Order: sequence, then structure tokens, then C-alpha cells
Amino acid sequence: MSELLRIENLSAGYGEAVVLHDVAFALGEGQTMALLGRNGTGKTTLINTLAGATRQHGGSISLSGQALHKLAPHQRAAAGIGWVPQERNIFKSLTVHENLTAVERPGKWNPQRVYEMFPRLAERKTNLGTQLSGGEQQMLAVARALVLNPKLLLLDEPLEGLAPIIVEELLRAIRRITQDEGLAAIIVEQHPQAILAISDHAVVLDHGTIVHTDSAAALRSQPQVLERLLGVAR
Ligand SMILES: Nc1ncnc2c1ncn2[C@@H]1O[C@H](COP(=O)(O)OP(=O)(O)OP(=O)(O)O)[C@@H](O)[C@H]1O
Ligand SMILES: [Mg+2]
Repeated sequence: MSELLRIENLSAGYGEAVVLHDVAFALGEGQTMALLGRNGTGKTTLINTLAGATRQHGGSISLSGQALHKLAPHQRAAAGIGWVPQERNIFKSLTVHENLTAVERPGKWNPQRVYEMFPRLAERKTNLGTQLSGGEQQMLAVARALVLNPKLLLLDEPLEGLAPIIVEELLRAIRRITQDEGLAAIIVEQHPQAILAISDHAVVLDHGTIVHTDSAAALRSQPQVLERLLGVAR
């Protein structure tokens, strides 16, 4: 398996404040990583640092051998970073379809394929962003990242605040995108059960540093470790 992402000695934060300290890991092509940790441990800061939206103080990030840390956010999108921020970045004043065509780049993920993945969005093609439920907005945020045809998908708490039926639908779509279609992803979650089940690797952050790295399957089968690191039994 060839390497897709490599992060070394990464430190980053906001202004003078350093939130992430000496973060390092690598991810292979087609692999899925669960990024876990309690509130305020630096998960979003790490995702945003990959996307270029924080201040990087040191270290390196490379995607398919290309150095990302000197690139602006739009250049990172062009280099293959598909970012779905925690606050969902859809254009509220555009329709569902316009949201997709506004950012679409050539590749296997076009609006038509994305509609097959998310039938709810197909039914709401002409709805404005303001006319979508929270779950539909989240699906559109994922769909927008997909039509960029990224090499690596970054999902920051994609299931947060959604009704159980929508969580199921979104999880099924994420599983298809990552496992069946082979798109590499880093998925942030505070409630790890569902995400560990569809991930290859797991990394746990605390106070801005990596405190645990393992295969997702191994971490999933160790309730005492999950309890200690995350305060959840399973
Ligand atoms: N824009 C900002 N400016 C300054 N400090 C920030 C900013 N955003 C986050 N922080 C700080 O960085 C630390 C990590 O925050 P971050 O949002 O990365 O955590 P998180 O693990 O994503 O938390 P959550 O699970 O609540 O989303 C926190 O101490 C937070 O207060
Ligand atoms: Mg966060």
C-alpha cells in the first residue's frame, strides 16, 4: 500500500497560541482513520491545520509527496484535500445543485453520482441551503467535498447533532465512499463506536498531542482503554 499522507513534528494553533504539539502520523492510500478525543483536545485544530486554516508553527505535512504546509487553503483543495468543517460550509443562498456545480472539479465524483449516494439531495436539488434540515445540510457538505474529487476527505464530527435515522443514512454513505470506493478519510468523532467500526486506524488526542495509536479494530475491542481515553465504555 502506498503512502498518501505524512505528518511530522507538527505544531499549530491560533496566533501565538500553540494548540497542537509534535503531532506525527502517516496514512496509506484508501485508508480510513478515526480521530478521537474529548472536547477541546485539538481534533478540529488538526483537521483545520491540514486544510490550511490555522497557524502552523512547525513541522511538515505532505500529501502524495507534495508539501502542503506552505500552500494556501484553495491550493490544498486543488492538491486533493476535501474538507468538511465542523460547522458545515455550504452556501446557504444557493440551491443544492448550485452548491455542487460551484465547486465541482473533473473526476469520478460528479453531481449525478453524488445524488445516487444521497437520494435525499437528489429530491431537493432546487432547494436553497436555507431550506434544508441539519442532516441534509451535512449530506450536502459531504457531497460538496466529494465533487472536488479529493485524495483525502476530512470529516469533522459529521454525525454531530443528527437524528438517529440520519446518522444511519450518513454512516452508510461514508462507508460506501471510504470502503467500497476506496477514498481515504480522516473522521473526527467524540462517540467512537460507529466510526471505529468503519475505520482502519485510530488516533486519540489529548491536550493537543497523540496519546494513543492503534488499529480501529483493536481499540474497539478494548472498552477499558476507550473508557480511560474518552470516558466511554464502548
Ligand atoms: N479560533 C481559536 N482561537 C484560539 N484558540 C482556539 C480557537 N479554536 C480553538 N481554540 C482552542 O484550541 C483548543 C483545541 O480546540 P479544538 O476546537 O481543536 O478542539 P476539539 O477537539 O475539536 O473540540 P470539540 O470536540 O469540542 O470540537 C481548545 O483549547 C480551544 O479553546
Ligand atoms: Mg472540534
